[in-house]
Amino acid sequence: METLQGMKRSHHCGELRKGNIDQEVVLCGWVSRRRDHGGLIFVDMRDRSGLVQVVFDEAAMGEESFHKAESLRTEFVMGIRGKVRGRSEDTINPNMETGEIEVVVTELRILNKAKTPPFYIQDGIDVDEMVRMRYRYLDLRRPEMQKNLMLRHRVAKVMRDFFDAHDFLEIETPMLCKSTPEGARDFLVPSRLNPGEFYALPQSPQIFKQILQVAGFEKYFQIVRCFRDEDLRADRQPEFTQLDIEMSFMDQEEILAIMEDMIKELFEKSIGAKVETPFLRMTWDDAMDNYGSDKPDLRFDMKLMDISEYVKGSNFKVFNAVLEHGGQVKCIKVDGYANIPRRELDGLVQFVQIYGAKGLAWIQYSEEGIKSPFKKFYSDETFQKIAEATGAKTGDLLLVVADQRLVVAQALGQLRLEMGRRRGLIDPDELKFLWIVDFPMYEYSEEEKRWKAMHHPFTAPRDEDIQYLKTDPGRVKANAYDMVLNGVEIGGGSLRIYNADLQEQVFESLGLTHEQAHEKFGFMMDAFQYGTPPHGGIAFGLDRLVMIMAKRGSIRDVIAFPKNQSARDVMSDAPSPVEEKQLRELSIRTAVAKKK
Ligand code: AMO
Ligand code: AMP
Repeated sequence: METLQGMKRSHHCGELRKGNIDQEVVLCGWVSRRRDHGGLIFVDMRDRSGLVQVVFDEAAMGEESFHKAESLRTEFVMGIRGKVRGRSEDTINPNMETGEIEVVVTELRILNKAKTPPFYIQDGIDVDEMVRMRYRYLDLRRPEMQKNLMLRHRVAKVMRDFFDAHDFLEIETPMLCKSTPEGARDFLVPSRLNPGEFYALPQSPQIFKQILQVAGFEKYFQIVRCFRDEDLRADRQPEFTQLDIEMSFMDQEEILAIMEDMIKELFEKSIGAKVETPFLRMTWDDAMDNYGSDKPDLRFDMKLMDISEYVKGSNFKVFNAVLEHGGQVKCIKVDGYANIPRRELDGLVQFVQIYGAKGLAWIQYSEEGIKSPFKKFYSDETFQKIAEATGAKTGDLLLVVADQRLVVAQALGQLRLEMGRRRGLIDPDELKFLWIVDFPMYEYSEEEKRWKAMHHPFTAPRDEDIQYLKTDPGRVKANAYDMVLNGVEIGGGSLRIYNADLQEQVFESLGLTHEQAHEKFGFMMDAFQYGTPPHGGIAFGLDRLVMIMAKRGSIRDVIAFPKNQSARDVMSDAPSPVEEKQLRELSIRTAVAKKK
């Protein structure tokens, strides 16, 4: 192999233009594609900046050098010296940014060879994601992945500049923390020096950033890794990155306004998108009742509509039973879909069942008349009234779910999204931001048979609801807010409790005894007794933000080395068993039998 000695890169491949014609250039990069025309070899040469066509001409460079060029294969690494020349009119490539020129090579150095890659290093490949992850360095070499990570860099830079300009300080917080209850499952790290004891990796720097407020820093931010041992989805990774923010002496309005300014600047400076502020505000109740989601995608309408009053008091057992037990009958209207094939309707029944509904009914206002599984239980007049109330016209379809409020919301909310996608109602270029406010303080866990914090236990209840903490937790609303973009929760935060007594009351309402609360959170409650300022904050999912900006369907595409669905790093094959000796040092024995 050759070296670069005496050959200093002068330009990047993707930056050469007509203005460089007749210049001598030195380029370094990879062979993206080569075409051999016998006596003439064309290579698309790639570096981080893009591609340029380089030409090896036997007549110009001599037989020996040309022979070397013939040995080039895709993904070989090379350095070349050459002269830029304009391409003739008929050979201009309008699909390449450098398509008006090419570089005629005078000197070639092959810096390294490469095995044939398992997939093409180009955009839009259709390759199993496991293979892409196994060879992540090759996947990341593809231009679209390079762009994603460049965008990610830009996003972090704009964030830091914004907060710096607004007097926020970036302060690091520990990765080895105390395990505290509430929230997702912790990743644990055994302590060698303290046998039998464990650290937890932070699910977020929540407690530390609040203590930094007690410490008087007033405005804090951090771009920080967080760890949660949850089941994975397209927008969930076991380790992910937050833009984490906390500030003192500001009310909710001020906090939301600064965050809107930040997002506006972020989208403008990183992708050139104009964002209108202030954002729409929607209460959690309205979001659930109208869109069946606490993160509604407002790029299309299709609201959930309540038709309980029209269908009550009939002989139809399904609706009656639900309404008698305090439930509701609601529907969505899918325009122009009355003639949906029966097979698809059956599929939709299964679809809503995944989301907890017991069944699905429908009304097809078709040309041939009304079709509905509950037609025989109601008069034509009732169907007419429902049509008027919902705005259904001939040709439209109503999809109906009867159940308790949150089940209806979940099932119809998901069905709404599915219909939006299937009917092509979502404009991929639109950005629809909103705030969800007035969250419930608690949600009831059927599994654990107790009230849990919907956000986290440090969130302040609304002053006027404090009286119900013990007697009627279900009606307590919190000073919490989520920022939603295109149906994705991109950020969430709240005003915090800053009074030790109230904090203790909230722990109590979550079923923590005084002793448990002190064992787990004593340090925080101690801190709160030394002059705690009113404070609040928020955290954004940086991966999710970049995913939406890059128009990708998964955060895995904007993370350099993500984990797969089973939380494995496929490239390095982690997690993996460790030596017996390592375990002994940590005073740990595993209950898993050794693999033979
Ligand atoms: P929360 O739990 O809502 O709030 O997290 C804030 C934001 O982080 C993103 N996010 C995730 N992204 C990828 N993978 C995950 N597993 C994941 N989990 C969350 C989401 C979410 O909106 N300490 C509080 C914030 C605060 O109150 O200031 C917190 O962590 O975009
Ligand atoms: P059944 O009496 O269970 O056969 O149901 C009669 C019709 O009502 C069928 O078309 C069901 O799909 C529909 N149905 C059943 N349960 C529900 C429900 N929870 N919400 C809406 N429709 C339902």
